[in-house]
Parts: sequence; C-alpha cells; structure tokens
Amino acid sequence: MSGIDLTGKVAIVTGSGQGLGLAYARALASAGASVVINDVNADAANAAVDAITNAGGSAFAVVAAVGPTETADQLVDTAVATFGRLDILVTNAGILRDKVLWKLEDDDFDLVIQTHLRGTFTTARAAASKFREQGEGGRIIVIGSPAGQHGNVGQTNYAAAKAGIVAMARTWSLELARANVTVNAVIPIALTGMTATIPIYKDIAEASEKGLPLPRAVRQQHALGTPEDVAPLIVWLASDASASVTGQAIGIGGDKLSIYTHPEESFLEYHEGGWSAEDIDRQWKPLFAAHLASSGITLPPLD
Ligand SMILES: NC(=O)c1ccc[n+]([C@@H]2O[C@H](COP(=O)([O-])OP(=O)(O)OC[C@H]3O[C@@H](n4cnc5c(N)ncnc54)[C@H](O)[C@@H]3O)[C@@H](O)[C@H]2O)c1
Repeated sequence: MSGIDLTGKVAIVTGSGQGLGLAYARALASAGASVVINDVNADAANAAVDAITNAGGSAFAVVAAVGPTETADQLVDTAVATFGRLDILVTNAGILRDKVLWKLEDDDFDLVIQTHLRGTFTTARAAASKFREQGEGGRIIVIGSPAGQHGNVGQTNYAAAKAGIVAMARTWSLELARANVTVNAVIPIALTGMTATIPIYKDIAEASEKGLPLPRAVRQQHALGTPEDVAPLIVWLASDASASVTGQAIGIGGDKLSIYTHPEESFLEYHEGGWSAEDIDRQWKPLFAAHLASSGITLPPLD
C-alpha cells in the first residue's frame, strides 16, 4: 500500500474484533491511522488492539454494541479523547438472523435492523457532527451486501438493512458534500465466520483454513477471497486519494473490484393522459416484458 498514507488520521471501525472489520482496522493502522476498535466481544476487541500495537500501530478498544446513540457518542468521544480528532468512520458491525418471511420473528427483525441500519445511522450522525465541527472534511464508509443489492432467500431483515444502508450513503453524500465529507458504500465478499457456514463454501473454508489458496473460479466468478482482499478498498476510500469519489456503491472480493449502478429506470414509455389497467395489459408484453429484472444473487456452479 505504498503511496497511500494515513499518518495522523484517526479512524473508528465498528465490529472490528474479527473478520472483515479486523482486517480493515489492521490495514488502516498499517497505513498509519490510529484506530478505535469496537466490538461486543471484549476478548476479540482487546486481541485486535494487541495485534495492532504489537505491529507498531496505535489502537484503543471500546466494547459496546452499536445501535444506541450512546455507543455512537462514546466511539466519537473516545477517538477525540485518545487520539485528538476523527477522520474516518467504517460502519462494519453486523449480525445475521436468517429466516424466511413467514418464520421471521419480530425480535430477529428488530435486532438486525438495530445493529446494521440503526448502528450505521447513529455512528454516522455522531461522526458527521464531529467532521462538521472540525471543518476539515472526513470519510464515512458504510458496508452493504450483495443481499441488499439483489435480495436473498431467508434474509428479509438483513437485505432490508443493507439496502437501506446504501440508500443512506447516497443521501449523506449529498448532505455532506459541502463539508468535504465523502460517503461511500462498500459491498464486500470474503470468507469469514459469517460466510464459512454457507453450505457451498464449507469445503472451501476448510481448505482455506489449512492455508490452501482459494481456486481462481472462487476468487473471480464468486468474488470470494479473504478479508485482506477487501481491506485495501477501505484504505483507499479512507485516504485523500479518493477525495472525488462519493455516493458510490463499490463491490470488492477475491480478484474482483466493481461499481454498482444505483437503481435506474431500465425502460419507459409515456401514455398521454395516464395508463389504465387495460393500457398496461396491452403494452406489457410487446414493450415492457423484455426489460424485467431478476431478483437474487446468481453465482456460477463450483466444481
Ligand atoms: N463476509 C462477507 O462475505 C460479507 C458480505 C457482505 C457483507 N458483509 C458485511 O460485512 C460486515 C462484517 O462481516 P463479517 O463477515 O466480518 O462478520 P463477522 O461475524 O466475522 O464479524 C462481525 C463482527 O461484528 C461484531 N458485532 C456484532 N454485533 C455488534 C454490535 N451491535 N456492535 C458492535 N459489534 C458487533 C461481532 O462480534 C463480530 O466481531 C457485516 O456488516 C456484514 O454484514 C460481509
């Protein structure tokens, strides 16, 4: 990562005790940033701080669940009290509570929304206030998911939260442009505790744990690699080099880097005076049917 220097910058990474968040925190620290580690798991958060400080970096842990405003304030206050300022927020903390719609209970819906959507909102709001007060710009990097971009069976709560997070990023990129704060959504894919349990990746996860490299088809067509494959995008988005990039949803995983479109009208027709149900029926097949979008994450089969 030569040339991308975050020396003197201060970052918060939520959910950085393990998985992708830990990789983001380590990469930001090795690029020179001081990092506030956050996790609900105290052992993981403290181990992350040790790993970063043993490697010569600066880190401090806040053990608390994101979601409530109090945690967001605590994170920003800790960044300022410990390292003097705040420059970068990465809202990565997350959980899954997967069930198909008719089996999904209120508590599992609420917990996923509370952690991902509300946790992103409250921490971004606290960071935005600090960035505006400092008057020197800033970086907000939020985390979406292919499930939020496409929909995914069993993930009502998660897909809703992740789609909402990308919608918030678009809105905040507009609201914070004058303050020189960029806001982008990263759509990551990586082998972590969260993905290793997906049945088609079980063998791959076991092989990877033994140190075997992931096959090319997995790294390219499935865009599945390690958390360390995702972290460089976070570092780049956190840096001055990405100053002109805001309001984007950027995909990364394995060997793949991509830009998502924002949902656009893919086809349109006007009907003077408006459309009756009969008008729609008459024109649907000849004009509109060819433009229907499919839902769901489609991946090529693995050998
Ligand atoms: N792994 C993937 O392929 C993938 C794909 C798309 C999106 N994501 C997203 O990336 C992020 C990280 O995922 P991961 O795969 O590293 O998961 P992970 O389960 O390995 O790590 C998530 C971390 O967040 C922590 N956490 C959970 N709830 C929290 C809360 N309320 N406050 C603070 N910390 C909390 C957990 O303790 C854990 O350390 C999540 O937002 C996830 O939805 C992951």
